[in-house]
Amino acid sequence: MTPVSPALSKRHLVLIGMMGSGKSSVGRKLALQSGAPLVDTDELIERHCRRSIVDLFKELGEARFRLLERDLLCQAAEDETPTILSTGGGAVVTPENREALWRTGYVVYLQASPEVLWRRLKKNSTRPLLQQPDPRGVLTRLVQEREPLYLDADMVINVDQLTIAQAAQAIWTALPGTLRGGLNKKTPTP
Ligand code: S3P
Repeated sequence: MTPVSPALSKRHLVLIGMMGSGKSSVGRKLALQSGAPLVDTDELIERHCRRSIVDLFKELGEARFRLLERDLLCQAAEDETPTILSTGGGAVVTPENREALWRTGYVVYLQASPEVLWRRLKKNSTRPLLQQPDPRGVLTRLVQEREPLYLDADMVINVDQLTIAQAAQAIWTALPGTLRGGLNKKTPTP
């Protein structure tokens, strides 16, 4: 019988950061380059509930959304396949998520200033937390509140001046070799 090899502990590449920081786009680029599967936790939730994030916030409220997010995110983190995990901006506020992500993944914070985030998000209606009076103030407050949690990441990359491709490249080259090896599913060209 072939022994089941234990899962590598830090096997995933986890992208954290505020909405608008580019986690999904950078994740897609990294997945394309490496051949590793991409799991976007917002998409997991939408598929599981067959509802958009906006509708879920309306129907459930934020507290119940966070419980759903926790259950699906923690399940995804326990998968043994090395994966690129792109997380929702608020995932880090839930202690169980932080425990699972930091234990199973190499965590990369895509840091962006409130000004850059606002420029990218001001015309966007898919972020329920910004559908309220003074969305710019809310965004700035969320950055301030979450920054200490984000800064606990294994790698911090400021993306204010970077394109998606530049951010993906910078992350990939700075990853520890063992992690890159685990994620790289592309057959090397002879
Ligand atoms: C949220 C960010 C969103 C989504 C939800 C809540 C947040 O994900 O999970 O709207 O609390 O910052 P993105 O960061 O992918 O936009």
